[in-house]
Amino acid sequence: MNNPAVWQFSLNALHATMWGGSLLVALIVFSRLVTLRTLAVATLLATLALVMLGAYVRLTNAGLGCPDWPGCYGKLSPTYAADQIQAAEMAAPDGPVSLPKAWREMAHRYCASFVGVMILAIAIQALNNRRKGPADADVQGRKIGLPLALVFIVVLQGLFGKWTVTLLLKPVIVTLHLLGGMMLVAFLAWLSARHLQLTGGQPSALRSIRPLAAIGLIVLGVQIALGGWVSTNYAALACVDFPTCHGTWKPGTDFVHGFHFFRELGMTAEGEPLSNDALNAIHWAHRIGALVTFLTLSYVAHRAMRLPALRSLGGALLVLLFVQVTLGIANVLGSLPLPVAVAHNGVAALLLAALVMLNFATRSPSPFDR
Ligand code: HEM
Repeated sequence: MNNPAVWQFSLNALHATMWGGSLLVALIVFSRLVTLRTLAVATLLATLALVMLGAYVRLTNAGLGCPDWPGCYGKLSPTYAADQIQAAEMAAPDGPVSLPKAWREMAHRYCASFVGVMILAIAIQALNNRRKGPADADVQGRKIGLPLALVFIVVLQGLFGKWTVTLLLKPVIVTLHLLGGMMLVAFLAWLSARHLQLTGGQPSALRSIRPLAAIGLIVLGVQIALGGWVSTNYAALACVDFPTCHGTWKPGTDFVHGFHFFRELGMTAEGEPLSNDALNAIHWAHRIGALVTFLTLSYVAHRAMRLPALRSLGGALLVLLFVQVTLGIANVLGSLPLPVAVAHNGVAALLLAALVMLNFATRSPSPFDR
């Protein structure tokens, strides 16, 4: 074959077929040969890694490393788009496109499609179990609501991934993409807890902690959303001191523009550059949220640790909470070191998974303690 363009096209098509084939093989293996319990836990771990990889892509400014979706300049791999990437890099040497950035962005998409396949396999197994009936499958394995919700969210996540790129990192879209990832973590943690058969002990002891754990989950959800708003608006270094901001407990703030959701990155809704006061407001809200989250979750953890069946989950929650606050402060004082910022994202996801499992356990009294 003498024509390099035809040669490139054939290689790209061959690799696309191989990639599609590998995903299909993975789907068959996961839906037939792996138990639902192992699959749920493995998918939870893979999603935690994927969420952290997403943070790494954002923090290394690689989010627009491939300006189209789902391919990179329409190709499966940046290797086949090397000419276009080089041209874009030469036109804007400090711009968003370069070969390493394109690889990072595509690595996130490859991993996301793998997680998508794992979630699809969970749904297929649950649907098969339901068809087989009570004699062949346990009751938990036949519940299909959560597996189908996971499929819905992962498809939506794919679309938010696309809009993140095509709408040029609009803060509200990037935040919703982060929250979608966190929602996947939460749902997979619930599914894992179900298949690991976590229980909370005596029903009477669980009655008072159940609403507390639910409140803790709402508070953590809001705090994660506030954190996402900080990172997607690049407000991490709006205050570089701690615990005060610009040396004062009352920094200048503009909550109206800071929390206007429908606007471009770094701009107000009217198209003016976003002021420092608006960035201060975004940053400061996350700090106040951190205080409320810390107080609420340490109380939830303390109450959980008093119950034998919830001791380890409560302990894990407390440790993760301390680690998370330390990482947050290190982010501010160290001017956002990459490993610390990625870890702050990952520990938020772990905190969420632990708290969801705790909530599950408070709703599952032990059959032996009734
Ligand atoms: C109490 C628990 C906390 C939770 C659950 C939490 C959660 C989060 C989350 C989910 C993000 C978004 C990460 C991302 O998009 O990659 C974030 C960002 C951030 N958080 Fe926290 N946070 C907490 C406490 C703190 C504290 C105490 C501080 C500092 C005083 C802090 C400072 C930051 C900063 C500077 C960012 C922006 C990082 C970036 O741009 O990547 N956080 N937080």
